[in-house]
Amino acid sequence: MYNTKQITTDLFWVGANDRRIALFESVYPVPTGVSYNSYLLMDEKTVLLDTVDRAVTHQFMENVEHVLNGRHLDYLIINHMEPDHCAEIPTIVAKYPDIKIVCNAKTQTMIKQFFDFDLDENQYMLVKEGDTLNTGKHNLTFVFAPMVHWPEVMVTYDTTDKILFSADAFGAFGAIDGNIFADEVDYDHRYMDEARRYYTNIVGKYGPQVQALLKKASNLDIKMICPLHGYIWRKNLEVFIDKYLKWSSYTPETNSVLIAYASVYGGTQNAAEILATKLAQRGVKDIKMYDVSTTHLSYILSDAFKYSHIVFASTTYNNGIFVNMENLLHDVVAHNLQNRKIAIIENGSWAPTCGKLMTELLSKLKNTEFISSNVMIKSAVKQDKAEELDNLAQAIVSSM
Ligand code: FEO
Repeated sequence: MYNTKQITTDLFWVGANDRRIALFESVYPVPTGVSYNSYLLMDEKTVLLDTVDRAVTHQFMENVEHVLNGRHLDYLIINHMEPDHCAEIPTIVAKYPDIKIVCNAKTQTMIKQFFDFDLDENQYMLVKEGDTLNTGKHNLTFVFAPMVHWPEVMVTYDTTDKILFSADAFGAFGAIDGNIFADEVDYDHRYMDEARRYYTNIVGKYGPQVQALLKKASNLDIKMICPLHGYIWRKNLEVFIDKYLKWSSYTPETNSVLIAYASVYGGTQNAAEILATKLAQRGVKDIKMYDVSTTHLSYILSDAFKYSHIVFASTTYNNGIFVNMENLLHDVVAHNLQNRKIAIIENGSWAPTCGKLMTELLSKLKNTEFISSNVMIKSAVKQDKAEELDNLAQAIVSSM
């Protein structure tokens, strides 16, 4: 049966939740699922904004048909061609063969790469930055947002109701639990961490491009943000926009210390734990620790965007960096993290080498400072290392 949500007089959510998915994009755990949002505007013309992932085809089509209530679907706007949103374009085209697809030239190229359906060229309305579509009461304007998250991405702004259809921007992991508006749930406690994990892992690399979109959006009078994943924002938009300004400029949210460690037999963990205690004794609050082998890297990357100071502690393995730590560091570098203060602890029983290699990798981060020289332990922490760890804790505190 259909399961739709009315957003405004003319606008309906016709998306669906997937709570069975294990790994979003085959990479990211989504223990609370994910929503694929699609929106249907019922004006003199009917307009569908994006579709959904193929995992939820049936629910989506029931929703669309219910809201249309026998009317024809006139337009399909494609803001983003990633298959978690575009997978059902062929189903829509098959069901409504006279439909007009509204997209840009890059999107049209991708449509032809992904799909084989045949549409007349005049069934594409190819738009450029700032073009508009009048649907009766509503005027829709198209704003390009390349690399937020793919090169073809655009967002759609309804100048009539002042709604921004923001594509992946302002999305979050996590299914929608009945409510549809962010102000109807305890977003800060239940969803902000997942919004950060979504942003940092999916779009985090493209901070300058997100900044460019935020600059364009600042010229619009936005009353509501409708993303492709997660809840819709209609109140206190500045809270979420401020997060995006911070995340996209690689500005820490928390002046505190994140410690990520890789430990095979506990020696490196012990060093990390002792350092954390010494930091706490010096008054540092909200210290966060992760074992890189037991927590998915996406959570650690997300907190790397949140914290001002990061300590990486690793054992040497195969004459290099322990594999899970190496993966984390590559991920941090790949996501373009910047403006951090960093310290390294290395361990090795006979030939400690990982500290140098970790330093080399992390040296690629822009505007990032190493707080002190690396602390080296051999096998296990002994009393003679207490002073070095003390000094490191003090150096971190002094730099805060
Ligand atoms: Fe939710 Fe870039 O797709």
